[in-house]
Amino acid sequence: MVFSLLSATCKTNSGNTTTNINNSEQPALHTKWPFMVGAAAPNRAFFPSSEQYDLLRHYEVLVAENEMKPDALLPDAEGGSHKWTNADMLVNYAQENDTKVRGHVLVWHNQTPAWFFAGSGKDGLATKEQLYSRMENHIKAVFEKYSSQIGWWDVCNEVVGDDGHPRTASSSKYGAIMVNSGLTGMNRYEYVLMAFRWARQYADANGGQDVKLYLNDYNIEYNGAKQSEFIKLVNWLIENNAPIDGIGLQCHIKWDWPSVSQISGAIDKLSAIKRKDGVNLMTQVTELDMSLFSSNETSYAGGPILLTLPDTMRDRRLPAQAKKYRELFDMFKQKYEEGKLDMVLVWGIADGHSWLNSHPARGRTDYPLPFDRDYEPKLVYWELVR
Ligand code: GLA
Repeated sequence: MVFSLLSATCKTNSGNTTTNINNSEQPALHTKWPFMVGAAAPNRAFFPSSEQYDLLRHYEVLVAENEMKPDALLPDAEGGSHKWTNADMLVNYAQENDTKVRGHVLVWHNQTPAWFFAGSGKDGLATKEQLYSRMENHIKAVFEKYSSQIGWWDVCNEVVGDDGHPRTASSSKYGAIMVNSGLTGMNRYEYVLMAFRWARQYADANGGQDVKLYLNDYNIEYNGAKQSEFIKLVNWLIENNAPIDGIGLQCHIKWDWPSVSQISGAIDKLSAIKRKDGVNLMTQVTELDMSLFSSNETSYAGGPILLTLPDTMRDRRLPAQAKKYRELFDMFKQKYEEGKLDMVLVWGIADGHSWLNSHPARGRTDYPLPFDRDYEPKLVYWELVR
């Protein structure tokens, strides 16, 4: 039966799903699935007084929503000290609560301090050598700090442009510096190759031989120019001996798009890529959330930006969302059994804290996660644990 536990829940006027079932009757979400189920958590979730704290038990893997990004860890100025305090909160929570940690992210064109890209090259940008020295120092520092506590790292995030080409000056300073240094074609991804080599080198040098290295991106969950370029890049990395273990599909999706079968096809394609040693790449779903808005309700798809869903629309879409979450997880289970996927993380703990409330426009009210604004389980949760 589709909503077997619906009788235990009722909807409030705010669209939240409340329930009389107490915590002990709400099984931890991750215990229902054979693959690892995790979530992104902000720092404030690790204070026991936080309303998000009690929900952390649903996940067996945690990733820092922001606290391990370059701007969170790198010194405020070149030559300064790395900032570990906030990241340590997650790592300490994980150690005390038998929870695994996924690392996000070593190299990303966003959320990186300006000094990292500045230097004596063209247009005040760093030369390739300056950039590489900073990248190597950062990667080395991270693995010296966390070698055994973090099992998987996104080495690079979002290096392919939406147009199906390497990101260029307009969207990435990494891209700009590669071009300024005279690199062309696939060689514009040289910094990605270097990042993977340093990550493996410094992980291994610090006892992290089991740490798995991932390339993470969005819009690779369906066929298209971006996915084709991404596959070309992965094959180029392998040809050039990049020590890559897997691919992270972000999966920031919508209730009505892309379809479960499109995502299934993408996992099949990406996990079919073999390394030189004959081992297939693993896939992980790294940032799953499911907006209740449709593509044509966001400006980048040509429609108006709708900030609030009329109640009737919201109430019609919430069950559809729960059904799609369930179909997705059933499909993930199949991929897990086929050895193609081993982990799925949702991007956030509860609807009220999701980044989708301010993207693509501030002031939006979205409902992308298994728990609602009152930190209560939604239909999504009940569908996933039934
Ligand atoms: C991207 C990044 C994440 C996060 C989300 C939005 O997907 O990889 O780190 O910033 O955007 O919050």
